[in-house]
Amino acid sequence: MASRKTFNLVLPILLMNCFVQLGQCGRPHNAEEREDLVTATCKHTLHFQVCISSLRSVPGSSKTSDLKVLAEIALNLTTTYAADTLSYVYQLQSSSASNGSNNNYVSRCLSDCVEEYSEAIENLHHSKHALANGDCDRVDTLVSAAMSDAETCEDGFKDMQSEDSEYSNSPLTERNRYFSQLCSNALAISKLLV
Ligand SMILES: *[C@@H]1O[C@H](CO)[C@@H](O)[C@H](O)[C@H]1NC(C)=O
Ligand SMILES: *[C@@H]1O[C@H](CO)[C@@H](O)[C@H](O)[C@H]1NC(C)=O
Repeated sequence: MASRKTFNLVLPILLMNCFVQLGQCGRPHNAEEREDLVTATCKHTLHFQVCISSLRSVPGSSKTSDLKVLAEIALNLTTTYAADTLSYVYQLQSSSASNGSNNNYVSRCLSDCVEEYSEAIENLHHSKHALANGDCDRVDTLVSAAMSDAETCEDGFKDMQSEDSEYSNSPLTERNRYFSQLCSNALAISKLLV
């Protein structure tokens, strides 16, 4: 019974998809070719879904047919995320201060992360100039540096883990990971320009 029910639901959806896809193939719309550039480009990255969803969040990405513009958008997204993470770290600092928590390890780690992310933002700003000048090697160096800045931030908490089991988890693991993925994708996209 259950499987027939599923089948009854699935078949119309499949048919609908076919028509939608046929409709798309029939229309020689530029917007779709341009959308393909995002997909085609993201296929060269290690984190495809992150690539697709981040690039698609910027309206300009579907309007361009220029890979260099996509690379710039990727760097912009990465920079914005770094800045956003930096202000999140400031929030963590002030909430742990107002909670009267005087855990030295945590506050030292958070201060380190402020430094690391400030440096990452600077590196990423420079990388945009390098991209504009067509210096892809320098883009590579700077974005790799930004990526390792986030790793250093995360590693601080890992080192703390062995010293103080009470504060064993980094509050920044998810953000550090996502930031690294954005960096990795931006690197892969700018390498396509070489
Ligand atoms: C990247 O960000 C800069 C500064 O915010 C902006 O001027 C530029 O238009 C952005 N580039 C793209 C391709 O969106
Ligand atoms: C500070 O306290 C608030 C509310 O009690 C809590 O949500 C927050 O996670 C605490 N911050 C830290 C860093 O412990």
